[in-house]
Amino acid sequence: MSAHAFPPSPNLALDELVNHRRRAGQPLIHLGFGESQLPVPDFLADRLHAGAARNRYGQIGGEIDCREAAAGYFTRRGLRTHADQVVMAPGSKPVLLALMAALPGAVVLPRPCWVTYEPQARLFAREVVGVPVPPQCGGVPDPDRLVPALRAARRAGLRPRSIVLTLPDNPTGTHAPAAVVRRLAEIADDWDLLVISDEIYRDIVHPPGDAITSPAEFIPDRTVVTSGLSKSLALGGWRIGFARFPDTVDGLALQSRVIGLASEIWSSLAGPMQEVARYALSEPPELRRHLAASTRLHGAVAGAVHEVMTGAGASSRPPTGGFYVYPDFAPIRGRLAKMGIRDSATLERHLLDRVGVAVLGGHHFGDDPSALRFRAATSMLYGESDEERWLALESTDPVALPHIERLLDTLSDAFHTLTGYSTRSPVVALR
Ligand SMILES: Cc1ncc(COP(=O)(O)O)c(C=O)c1O
Repeated sequence: MSAHAFPPSPNLALDELVNHRRRAGQPLIHLGFGESQLPVPDFLADRLHAGAARNRYGQIGGEIDCREAAAGYFTRRGLRTHADQVVMAPGSKPVLLALMAALPGAVVLPRPCWVTYEPQARLFAREVVGVPVPPQCGGVPDPDRLVPALRAARRAGLRPRSIVLTLPDNPTGTHAPAAVVRRLAEIADDWDLLVISDEIYRDIVHPPGDAITSPAEFIPDRTVVTSGLSKSLALGGWRIGFARFPDTVDGLALQSRVIGLASEIWSSLAGPMQEVARYALSEPPELRRHLAASTRLHGAVAGAVHEVMTGAGASSRPPTGGFYVYPDFAPIRGRLAKMGIRDSATLERHLLDRVGVAVLGGHHFGDDPSALRFRAATSMLYGESDEERWLALESTDPVALPHIERLLDTLSDAFHTLTGYSTRSPVVALR
């Protein structure tokens, strides 16, 4: 695919379509956009204002106070880090792009996986080796299928050199258990693969108190961790991302290549955002409280949507991270086929046009297009206004709030009408 042929990313394109239809008067429940949908607390807005004086270009990889804060963030999560291993960037997407540009060989991706990895790889003419995720979780290739896939890739003349893991995962809203991550780390070691561990959802894990295991705990010398504040603090529009490179000669050489690319593309993370990142990554108590409340909300609503989907006849892994649910309507394929729904594209279309629910079909994530799967971004249910979203955030029982309960009821009715599934699990039973 040439750069000229690049269509807009499907989630952004769907968001624009939904907004267009809403303006034209069509009522829609929008579960199509991966945004945390939470308002900005005053303590973050204050830092943004305080950062206005940071108007110089500054260091390409980020100012030292900001990188030190990021190093502390990783160190508190069991990954001892010093500031020189960190690169700050305007979002993690550009860092991932720079990594794709800087790394040689083919890249291994889980199927399904986040919509952007593959287009980024293709932009640099990198071959992609897709490996299905295991039954119990998404975000990682099934370890049982990875080695055969690597062998097949080599036989086909490819040279797989890197692998992307997403912990927790978008689109499935789950995270791989430690034992799976360990096995993947062993395979990466045996096959000389660099691991890119996208941990942008790492601070949104349900139930609260649970935690992901990073491959960097097993193979620190061959793992680059990427992250950012777009999801955990709902700051997608502020564009704050960062990466941790291995503290090895090779790791720091890769980091230099990324910094070289950064110097030609984004120069540095915007100064006011470095002030926000410095503050946020040092994790003061008010920020931790805010994060805990956000995570509780994400878990409660994702759990409620999961119940709606399974109550309507889908199978679905219970969500354990992020704010997504990824149901599979294979159990009622026969009934859906009678309505002309035979794959994820027709399911997505039917839901949008006939049911009034916007979701992204599994095919956008590289999943088997014939499967009846889609991603529902459950964070879109928190409210229409900042007032409703604050209520949701502060509630100990958000799914009981009238504005959320109403949407869940509408969603439940819509899916039960679609699937005709009889053992209705009323939303009221979710509380
Ligand atoms: C898995 C994953 N990684 C990375 C990103 C990019 O985030 P940002 O560029 O805002 O840091 C997203 C956003 O949707 C994501 O879902």
